[in-house]
Amino acid sequence: MSVKMTKIDIITRQGKFEDLKEALGKIGITGMTVSQVLGCGMQKGLTEYYRGVPVEVNLLPKVRIEVVVCEIPVDLVVETAQKVLRTGKIGDGKIFVYEVANVIKIRTGEQGRDALQDHE
Ligand SMILES: Nc1ncnc2c1ncn2[C@@H]1O[C@H](COP(=O)(O)OP(=O)(O)OP(=O)(O)O)[C@@H](O)[C@H]1O
Ligand SMILES: [Mg+2]
Repeated sequence: MSVKMTKIDIITRQGKFEDLKEALGKIGITGMTVSQVLGCGMQKGLTEYYRGVPVEVNLLPKVRIEVVVCEIPVDLVVETAQKVLRTGKIGDGKIFVYEVANVIKIRTGEQGRDALQDHE
């Protein structure tokens, strides 16, 4: 009964968002949650570049894209994101992968895999 569902959080540079969204669309991702966040990684307190300007504060504006998948392979999502986002410079971002216990579509009451698909 229980089918594996996975949440993938991608936190990266704001300027990469449109390219990432397009690439995710091409592999069949339809639902996503996007937020503007503040974050820091390994370089806490050290200089990172924001729009070409060195910034010395700890927290930099980033974009977070959350997707939950069932049919689309997690590796495909991760590889697609890496391909688009990797510049090799610090601050390219991070990808977090979580198991999802359940999903409920409020309108229909569908759960799990069914809640992630569109059955009108
Ligand atoms: N350990 C962590 N826990 C939660 N969020 C994190 C963590 N590390 C990074 N992040 C989030 O990911 C964003 C991007 O991190 P960042 O790309 O700077 O990672 P990094 O590990 O420092 O790698 P790099 O050396 O390439 O900069 C951060 O701004 C923050 O929002
Ligand atoms: Mg960093």
